Amino acid sequence: MCGIFGIVTSEERPLGPVLVEAGKRLSYRGYDSVGCATIRADGTVDLRKDVGKVDDVARRLQFHEMRGTRGIVQLRWATFGAPSRANAQPHIDSDGDLVGAHNGNVVNNVELREAFIAEGMTVRSTNDGETCVHAVERYVDRGHSMLDAIRRAYGDLEGDYSFVIGRVGENRLYAFKKGSGLVAGLTDGIAVVSSDLPSILPLTRRIVRVEDGEIVVLEPGRIELRRVEDGARVEREIETVAETMEEAQKEGYPHFMLKEIHEQPRRARELLHLYDASPHVATLAERMGRARNLYLVGCGTSYHACLLGATYIARLAGRPAIPVLAPQFVPQYVPALGPEDVGLFVSQSGETKDVLLALDAAVARGLVPLGLLNVIGSTLMYRSRAYLPLACGYEISVPATKTFLNQALAFLYLALRMGGHPTAELSRVPELLEETIAAADRQIVELVDGLAGRDDLYCLGYGLTYPIALEGALKMKEVTYAHCEGMLSTEFKHGPLSAVTEGYPVVFVCGPEDVARVVSGVNEVTCRGGRAIAVAEEDPRLRANAHDLIVLPEAGPLLNPLLAVVPLQLLAYRMSVARGIDPDFPRNLSKTLTVD
Ligand code: G6P
Repeated sequence: MCGIFGIVTSEERPLGPVLVEAGKRLSYRGYDSVGCATIRADGTVDLRKDVGKVDDVARRLQFHEMRGTRGIVQLRWATFGAPSRANAQPHIDSDGDLVGAHNGNVVNNVELREAFIAEGMTVRSTNDGETCVHAVERYVDRGHSMLDAIRRAYGDLEGDYSFVIGRVGENRLYAFKKGSGLVAGLTDGIAVVSSDLPSILPLTRRIVRVEDGEIVVLEPGRIELRRVEDGARVEREIETVAETMEEAQKEGYPHFMLKEIHEQPRRARELLHLYDASPHVATLAERMGRARNLYLVGCGTSYHACLLGATYIARLAGRPAIPVLAPQFVPQYVPALGPEDVGLFVSQSGETKDVLLALDAAVARGLVPLGLLNVIGSTLMYRSRAYLPLACGYEISVPATKTFLNQALAFLYLALRMGGHPTAELSRVPELLEETIAAADRQIVELVDGLAGRDDLYCLGYGLTYPIALEGALKMKEVTYAHCEGMLSTEFKHGPLSAVTEGYPVVFVCGPEDVARVVSGVNEVTCRGGRAIAVAEEDPRLRANAHDLIVLPEAGPLLNPLLAVVPLQLLAYRMSVARGIDPDFPRNLSKTLTVD
């Protein structure tokens, strides 16, 4: 997603180079626009911003000339609304004496923006970062101090974001966060703040982590924390961090894969906030609902999400959806397509050639293409008639984890909406995921010792957990180099059962409605000496019949698949590390396959 960085110095100096450097360090998150603002000692604001990469925009707009006592740089990764100069950040308020930028999403942006226009403010973009600035302006205009105005604005701005703002005439910056990250840093005569530790590390290792409900006030060489609730000071020790830049990007995790698995509760929460506020959900649900035939098209992990999506849509919206691997879509369905049909093309990268070729062939026959994608600005985004983002931020590790989770959650959300059901129950998902990660990681560490040496295993599921079994098997194959086949559990007895010998591992992913059916499959394995590992909610039948039970929190059949994938991701990760493999960059694989 986006990133922000702000700096306060004791006297005016060239800030452009520092801001460009910080911007580059934020760029690993992915972005489409960049902007810098400085406030000069004479009280003028220098604001330069545009669509493009940091180096290009910096050269075109001569960022290196920018001077001041305060500076802000922002990288924007558009979630809704076109990447454009007007929507790029930072933003100024109506009369140009406040300047600020945010990262993340303000979910009540539309309502607030309309209110600000009605109150007579000058609103120049549709971007929610500008809304943050006007939210402060509203209270400054009513005579409040900056601190009090920000405290009030905090209550008005809903969502997950962090925000930095400065005012002409005060040599300070103010910043706060809700949900997303914010860290401040301190060195001689300088104070800095950023959404990302790596952008601060070249300047200082003395930092203060800002928490929700706090405002950080930055002055030259000084940081002060204030409580939003009553403005009272918060005392917090300054930490000295030892991380290197790469470690900091991994936020202390040894690999991106583990970091991205642990990020899932937060990303799920962000997706739900976004979809609750998005008009595009209704557009997609309506188009998918009235299609003659509805196809869900993807490759690899994204195809597994399509399989799960089809099962959710049948169950919750009472209509068939056809999940299909993108290259097979062309011979199997394209000749029969017409303009009444709809295809939802699902791709993390939005660049997978197999998916884009399938889309082009289908569009040539009049099909309406919709997209579900993570990378904003990708080819799939531009070729889709309408799309929904996955809101995961950049996924760096080659094996997809958080993007699968949000694809699955997006499908469940769409299926509920297509069926006219409420989506409120989904707000439990982030917490359930947190519980799952905490409990599963402990259980899996114990399991890995016995499994790490195995070169062959199966991962079985049924119904809603069938796609999860396929996805779990794909994770294992990708990062352990072991052969792991994913399969419908009831098919196992029709052939693969012949592989089972003493100790042969078979993982059963089991939803709460399917225990009776799965228990017989478990026994077919165990009575031949195989080792059955169940991933399920606590159940006496599984406890009695399987060798191992990785326990999931009780969540019911619809939410169970979202949780069940987590232990499989962790198992694949831990086995990979135990086998001496780098799970982030497995041999022969590429994150984005733009070739046939
Ligand atoms: C590659 C990646 C997989 C991914 C697949 C589809 O094979 O290694 O992890 O699932 O492409 O990628 P997409 O970006 O279209 O979701």
